[in-house]
Amino acid sequence: MTVRIALPALALLLLATGGLGMAQADNKEAAAIASDEDGKYFDAEGNPTFKFENGTVDWYTFSGYRRYHSDCHVCHGPDGVGSSYAPALAESLKTMDYGTFISIVAEGRKNIGAGKESVMPAFGDNKNVYCYMDDLYIYLRARAVGDLPRGRPPKKEDKPESAKEHEASCMGG
Ligand code: HEC
Repeated sequence: MTVRIALPALALLLLATGGLGMAQADNKEAAAIASDEDGKYFDAEGNPTFKFENGTVDWYTFSGYRRYHSDCHVCHGPDGVGSSYAPALAESLKTMDYGTFISIVAEGRKNIGAGKESVMPAFGDNKNVYCYMDDLYIYLRARAVGDLPRGRPPKKEDKPESAKEHEASCMGG
C-alpha cells in the first residue's frame, strides 16, 4: 500500500525537480547577449545583461561589483551571498526580473511581524545607488546566472563613453 502511494509521489518529485533545473537553465539562456550598444549588453527582451568571457567582464559588471560593495554588502553579504539579516541576491536574481529589482531598490521593502523586523531601505533618492541601478543589476545577474566567481573581477573592458556621460549627468544633475 505504502509503495503504491510512494511511487507516484516520487514521480511527481522528480518531475518537479526536473522542472526547477529547466527553469534555471532558461534563466541563464534568457541572460544571453542579444545586442550591444557602446559596451553595454542587452538580452532578447532588451533588459541589461552581463558579458563574461575569457575571465574578462564588461564595464558595468565591474562597476556594479564596486557599487554593491559600497552600498549593499553590509546587509546582503559580500558577493551577494546573503547574511542572517538580508537575502542572498546572487540567489534572488536567478528568478527576479529587472523591473522588480529596480522597484524594490528604489522603493525599499518592509517585512514586519512575528517579532522580526526586516527592512530593505529605499534608495530612490540616493544618487550613489540610483545612478548605478543597471550596474548593480548586471553584476548581480552575472553572479546569479553567469558563473561569475566571488571576489573582484580581475579583468574588465574599458569604461564606455556613454557610461561616462550618464555618470556625469546623473551625479551632477
Ligand atoms: C540596511 C540593510 C540593507 C541594505 C544596505 C540593503 N538591503 Fe536590500 N534588503 C534588506 C532586507 C532586510 C531585505 C529583505 C526585505 C524583506 O524581508 O522584504 C532586502 C531585500 C532586497 C531585495 C529583494 C530580495 C528578494 O529576494 O526578495 C533586493 C533586490 C535588494 N534588497 C537589493 C539591495 C541592493 C541592490 C542594495 C544596495 C544598493 C541593498 N539591497 C541594500 C536589507 C538591506
